[in-house]
Amino acid sequence: MSMYKLIIRPFLFLFDPESVHHFTFKLIRFSAKIPGVKFFRKRRYQVRDAKLCRTVFGLEFKNPVGIAAGFDKNGILLNELEDFGFGFVEIGTVTPLAQQGNPRPRLFRLKEDQAIINRMGFNNDGVDVIAKRLAKKKKTGIIVGGNIGKNTLTSDDGAKADYITNFNALHEYVDYFVVNVSCPNVGSLAKLQNRDFLVDLLSELKSINATKKIQRPILLKIAPDLNKIQLDEVVEIIQTSGIEGVVATNTSTTRDNLKTSEQRLKEIANGGLSGKPINDKSTEVIKYLADKSNRSFVIIGVGGIHSAQDALDKIKAGADLVQIYTGFIYEGPNLVKQINKAICNA
Ligand code: FNR
Repeated sequence: MSMYKLIIRPFLFLFDPESVHHFTFKLIRFSAKIPGVKFFRKRRYQVRDAKLCRTVFGLEFKNPVGIAAGFDKNGILLNELEDFGFGFVEIGTVTPLAQQGNPRPRLFRLKEDQAIINRMGFNNDGVDVIAKRLAKKKKTGIIVGGNIGKNTLTSDDGAKADYITNFNALHEYVDYFVVNVSCPNVGSLAKLQNRDFLVDLLSELKSINATKKIQRPILLKIAPDLNKIQLDEVVEIIQTSGIEGVVATNTSTTRDNLKTSEQRLKEIANGGLSGKPINDKSTEVIKYLADKSNRSFVIIGVGGIHSAQDALDKIKAGADLVQIYTGFIYEGPNLVKQINKAICNA
């Protein structure tokens, strides 16, 4: 068993999840400044092998394992996450204006299920601050995705403008974009998973993209709870709008087959479920989309990856790249290395 699971995780899990997130975030950031720590981390966690390199939507990834949106919402830890072995980081969800998100508590561990429920509600520093931060960063080899959304107070009518504001502000500083309309925690966001709205929005982003010096790939992030008819629609939306692909999947609103007691689930109430319980569901969504589209667009596979085998299953189902979040919390940084090694040996 790794030191993380034996000592570090039991200690961290004694405290409130959101406080632990902020604490470990600062610890990772400041410890990287201690001489030798960065070097040690890279040696310990990075796997450098030509077999891991991928060119996906025109971008060169040093490896296909990324950290999913929501972990580094404000684009603070890019270099440090590269030290831990990630090939790419998806920042965000970013909104035009800074916002606090939902009231606390809003992040819950379901230890028996190796899962998390969150209803953070897009807390972030706002796109201008984040763009300035990215502009100042020394560019490393890591690929950076910009996951964009609308402010909670923006009406449905103003939603399109919010996405466009984010797209323009981040365009120079991120390598690809993810349009997030699938977060269950932001008021009316789910309503935006409407076909006509999406085709209109994505086509407009494509047109704006065409006017820029460099064209950034655009992906759509979808929920794991869509039925086959809705997934067929996703394929049609991607093909009609001509965007590069999909991130499958976000968190789930379902609570099926959990070991966590009904009572506790009732206390937690609303939020998106992530981690082990959504693994099969997300893999099925990936497989369905890959088969239905004859692999004609890129799929980033995410949802419940807690082992190297889970990642290989998503790749076999049709994912070109994979991302982790909850697995990183439960398994620690060794998981990134294990996945990369398994991909090398596959
Ligand atoms: C997330 N996720 C997420 N996704 C997104 O598009 N924008 C966001 O702001 C967030 N925020 C966020 C916060 C927290 C605390 C969690 C646990 C998750 C969803 C995440 O990117 C991913 O799609 C799901 O968590 C499924 O992957 P895992 O966690 O099962 O590996």
